Amino acid sequence: MKTTDYDLVQLLEVGFEHLPPYDPVVPCADQMASVIAETALRLHDNFPYFHPLYAGQMLKPPHPVARAAYDLAMRINPNNHALDGGRASSAMEKEAVAQLAAMFGWDSHLGHLTSGGTMANLEALWVSSRLRPGSTILASSEAHYTHERISGVLGLRFEKVPVDSCGRMDVSELQARLARGGVGTVVATLGTTGLGAVDPLDRILELRREFDFRVHVDAAYGGYFALASNLGTDARRAFDRVAEADSIVIDPHKHGLQPYGCGCVLFREPGVGAIYKHDSPYTYFSSNDLHLGEISLECSRPGAAAVALWATQRLLPLVKGGEFSAGLEQSRRAALELSAKLAADPRFILPIQPELDIVVWAPRAGSAVAASKLAQRIFDAAARADLHLALFKIPVKFFSSAWPDLVQDADTLLCLRSVLMKPEHLAWIDRLYLEISNATREATAA
Ligand SMILES: Cc1ncc(COP(=O)(O)O)c(C=O)c1O
Repeated sequence: MKTTDYDLVQLLEVGFEHLPPYDPVVPCADQMASVIAETALRLHDNFPYFHPLYAGQMLKPPHPVARAAYDLAMRINPNNHALDGGRASSAMEKEAVAQLAAMFGWDSHLGHLTSGGTMANLEALWVSSRLRPGSTILASSEAHYTHERISGVLGLRFEKVPVDSCGRMDVSELQARLARGGVGTVVATLGTTGLGAVDPLDRILELRREFDFRVHVDAAYGGYFALASNLGTDARRAFDRVAEADSIVIDPHKHGLQPYGCGCVLFREPGVGAIYKHDSPYTYFSSNDLHLGEISLECSRPGAAAVALWATQRLLPLVKGGEFSAGLEQSRRAALELSAKLAADPRFILPIQPELDIVVWAPRAGSAVAASKLAQRIFDAAARADLHLALFKIPVKFFSSAWPDLVQDADTLLCLRSVLMKPEHLAWIDRLYLEISNATREATAA
C-alpha cells in the first residue's frame, strides 16, 4: 500500500476518474504560497498546545490519522446534513457514533455529531424539555456554565445544586430539591471542566426510585475515561452506570484526538428522533435511509469531522486495554503523580484529589486574597519560563478542612490548574514540577 499523501489522494481520486476531465477554477492560486507563509507566521502567536510544557487548558493536537482523514475528505467537502450531501461520510458518522454509544454500553441509540459540547448539550436539554414540558433542569454548581445559558436560550427553568467538598453534586441537596417537585431533568457531569470532579451518577440514579426525572450525562470532557482502568472507586462506580442515563454528551474534540468541531449527543431511546421531525424542501431526496439532518438541530455539518473520527476509531478502537485507553490511563497517572508532588510540597495545598486528569492547587499564603495574587504571579512566572498553566476560581469553602487557618477574606480563591490530557505529560512530570517550583520561588520573592 502506498503511503505518501499524494498517493492517498490519488487513491481517492481513482473513484471519480471515469468523469470527463475539467479545469478546476482556483482564484489567485499563484499567490497562495505567500499567503500561507504569512499564515504560518501569524500562527506563531499561540501557546504551544502540542507540547508537554503546555499543561493549561483542555487542549491537545488531533491524532495525525484524524488530520490526514480530514484533509482527504476536504477533496470532497461533504455535508452530513443529508445523504444528498455526504453519503459515505454519513455512513461513517453513523458507524463512529454507534461505537461511541457502544463504549457506554448501548447497542441501540439515537445520536449524531455536533459542532461541540455546547450544541450537543443544547440538543439533549431541548429533547428533555419536549418530553417534560415546563419542568426545571438541575445541574451542579460546578457544571459547565453553558447549561444555564442553554436553558435561557431554550426558555427553560434552570437551578444549580450545590456541590460537596469534592466538587461533586451533593446528593442530599439534590434529594431535597427533588422533593420540592417540578424537576424534569438532572444533569450529571462526569468530569467537571474546572476540577475534573465526577458527579455520583450511581447515587443520582438511585433517586429515580423515589422521583421521576430524566438523567442527562454531560461527559463532554470526561466521557472517554469510561475506558480507563485506573479510576478511583467513586468515579468507576459513576462511569459503570452511564448506560442508565437518558442522554449522554461526549466531545471527540477534547479527549478523542479530533480537530475542533466534533461533539456528540447520544440518546438511549431511539424514539426521541420523532421530536426532531421536520421536512426539508431542498434535501432528503436521494435516499429513503436516515439523513442525519432529520435527527439534528443543525443543518450543514462537516462530513470531514465524521471521516476523521471514523478513521481515528478504526486505528484506535474504543476498547478497554487498547492503545487509546492506554493514553487516557497515562494522563490519569500524570495527574496522580503531579498531585502527589504538589501535596508533598509545603508551599502548596490541593483542594481535592484529581478524579480524572485535572490537577488544581493553591499556593499557601496568609489569606485567600494573598493566595489568589500569588497564584496569578506563579502563573505569569511559569509562562515566562514556557510552562503554560491555567487559573481557576473556586469557592474558599473547598479549603475548609484541608486549610482550616486560611483567612477567608474573599468568597473565592484563584487556584492554579493543569489539564494533563496529553499522554506525553506523564514523562514530563518532573520537569513540570521543577518549573512550577521555580516559578513559585520567583513569584514569592517578587
Ligand atoms: C463538561 C463540559 N461540558 C460542556 C463543555 C462545552 O463544550 P464545547 O466547548 O465543545 O462547546 C465543556 C467544555 O469544556 C465541558 O468541559
